[in-house]
Amino acid sequence: MSELDLILLGPPGAGKGTQAARLTEDFGVPHIATGDMLRAARAAKTELGMLAQAFMDRGELVPDHVIIAMLLERLAADDARDGFLLDGFPRTIEQADALGAELEEHDRWLTAALLIDAPDEVVIARISGRRVNPRTGRVYHVEFDPPPQEGRDADGSELVQREDDRAETVRRRLEVYHAQTAPLIAYYDEKGLLWRFDGTLPPDQVHAHIRATLSTVRREEDA
Ligand code: AP5
Repeated sequence: MSELDLILLGPPGAGKGTQAARLTEDFGVPHIATGDMLRAARAAKTELGMLAQAFMDRGELVPDHVIIAMLLERLAADDARDGFLLDGFPRTIEQADALGAELEEHDRWLTAALLIDAPDEVVIARISGRRVNPRTGRVYHVEFDPPPQEGRDADGSELVQREDDRAETVRRRLEVYHAQTAPLIAYYDEKGLLWRFDGTLPPDQVHAHIRATLSTVRREEDA
């Protein structure tokens, strides 16, 4: 069966992480989320984490050369050799070019760029209600996907709000998305790789649409 090399695109809070968790189960590819990698580096107080912190807290992008080096190292790991699902990368044209060049060098190519789209007002409401289990990374929403008990996950962990989910930082993240990341929609559309999904639908429906599309794409590649 053909390899799935996938990227998830979309504004902050569109549901990329929510769908990635489901799709990695469906298709057995590793979920590689640059935001999660940076948060782990921050928590471990590595040099990379300390550098990234200021950019993330302002809602700005971490510089391309830093994030490209981190991602390419991760892609070289054994578990990514037969497919991957990138979440949060690429975010600029320079990152997209670097990914394309790396794949080409290894005779690989992207299977699809999955755009989960939602208007600004929807994602602002979602991000303000997002709560995360700091131990497992499991994401909830106080209203749309409530945790088993208020403020706590099933394993007893206290749920927290991400540092960059404060209202003023969210607004900056959205500006940065529209200016620097949204151009990737046309970039992948021109390559015939873009698939669009309505991120305002409930998570199960978004998931069903993406899964059906990927099954079709895979059948076509295998034919
Ligand atoms: P990152 O962690 O990648 O954040 P993001 O792209 O802003 O995306 P989010 O994690 O906020 O949202 P999501 O789309 O995954 O939504 P989720 O599923 O959680 O990046 C953080 C920072 O790291 C960046 O600002 C930057 O500084 C840096 N960085 C990372 N990658 C970088 C790169 N490549 N280059 C440079 N810098 C980089 O859902 C959100 C909420 O909505 C949840 O509560 C969820 O339960 C709920 N929800 C989800 N789907 C639905 C639905 N369909 N209906 C109702 N509620 C839903």
